[in-house]
Amino acid sequence: MKRAYIETYGCQMNISDSELMAGILAEQGFVATDKPDDADVILVNTCAIRDHAEQRVIGRVGQLQQYRREGALIGVTGCMAQRMGENLLGRAGGVDLVMGPDAYRQLPDKLAEVGAKRTPRPALPLAFGTHAPQQPRGLTVLGFDPHENYEGVAPKRISAVSAWVPIQRGCNYRCTYCIVPYVRGDEKNRDPVAILDEVRALAQDGVPEVTLLGQTVNSWEHDGWSFPRLLREVARVDGIRRVRFTSPHPNGFTRELVEVMATEPAVCKQLHLPVQSGHNRTLKRMLRRYTVEEYLEKIEWVREAMPNIALSTDVIVAFPGETDEEYEATLELMRSVRYDDAFLYKYSEREGTPATRMPRDQFVPDEIGQARLERLIATHRAIQAELYAAEVGRIEEVLVEKEGRRGGLQGRTESNKVVTFEGPVELIGSFAEVRLESTSGATFQGELFHAMAAA
Ligand code: SAH
Ligand code: SF4
Ligand code: F3S
Repeated sequence: MKRAYIETYGCQMNISDSELMAGILAEQGFVATDKPDDADVILVNTCAIRDHAEQRVIGRVGQLQQYRREGALIGVTGCMAQRMGENLLGRAGGVDLVMGPDAYRQLPDKLAEVGAKRTPRPALPLAFGTHAPQQPRGLTVLGFDPHENYEGVAPKRISAVSAWVPIQRGCNYRCTYCIVPYVRGDEKNRDPVAILDEVRALAQDGVPEVTLLGQTVNSWEHDGWSFPRLLREVARVDGIRRVRFTSPHPNGFTRELVEVMATEPAVCKQLHLPVQSGHNRTLKRMLRRYTVEEYLEKIEWVREAMPNIALSTDVIVAFPGETDEEYEATLELMRSVRYDDAFLYKYSEREGTPATRMPRDQFVPDEIGQARLERLIATHRAIQAELYAAEVGRIEEVLVEKEGRRGGLQGRTESNKVVTFEGPVELIGSFAEVRLESTSGATFQGELFHAMAAA
């Protein structure tokens, strides 16, 4: 029996891919372990979105070499694997397998292939001064497959309470800063019949919450089906109490979609709508294909239909050519929308993306970028603190997900806010009414008010 350990970096799509890999390995008799030290196979499922994400992985692969020396195979999978390919084989002490996001069905075979070539670990500790045997060069598996949607693979899910359901892979946009289309390929949409079967099976297993995933999830379409129709049907599956979706692109965010969100009780009144910048010139250079005015109009539709909706967004500061004026416009947008949550980034140059070809003298110096980021974070945090403080005292329906890190229980409100509170572990997997007692930055502390029937 072989043991596999998977460590995941990056977005929800990558978490979901790790669940697919775990499923593929389980079918071949691997058992999952949550510790690298007793694993026969260590997989690091990586992200390439910013340089920082990649540096962390290089450091981590270096640390994991101790297990490789003891005989474990190390595979690097995902977006950074796809981006770096061959170049990863010799990095950070070496890896045995580099595999891109479309090749996971081959995982067991390729692990066996590379494993067979390895020199067995020495039976006795190596004498002082001798070196561990030189291992053969690793394998790369990097092809894109325009039809690979992992249909028929049963993912091995981390949570029995809330499930990621990928409905789309890849991306047809070409935002000029972004590496995703180059490491995940063009958009591929799953068949609605398979998606709905999966959601029904989840509901039957007692999973009350699903999150539909795609890089531009609302551009999903299939055989005349649109995303709003799919969302409605998912929301109506018996036993599904909460549906979320991420990330929609502001283009193709239609009134019809707002209507489905507003009228289907199971669709959470929560929306992550990445804006990236508050200035039209920047948006144009980013090739986002909408204007600030169009974006704000959509926010208005949403708030008109669902006055209490919780909003979140993504922003990049210091994109090449961003002037002070353009940056100030982003601050202004944040002040006017007042997001409940925001993921704020400093532009990170990604080799091969169109933005790298902009004139060098227009690149924003790092200190300025850093200062812009810090000020934006402070502005957002102040707004968030006000919004969160106003929620203290409310009684919210919380889906209890797990034990909290510091004891007690942890769950989420409909608006996707994390709440910790004291209560019996039997509540995990069910809904509870919790009074929000206080807030510390990004989470709430609450008190159990009323435990409800199991979901
Ligand atoms: N498909 C999603 C975004 C996925 S990447 C969408 O379009 O909404 C998540 C976020 O990372 C992006 O929204 C963007 O804000 C940020 N990001 C992407 N590329 C980046 C880069 N080169 N530098 C800094 N942030 C980046
Ligand atoms: Fe990247 Fe743009 Fe595609 Fe999102 S929509 S994944 S930001 S290219
Ligand atoms: Fe990162 Fe790949 Fe997701 S680059 S953000 S893990 S799609």
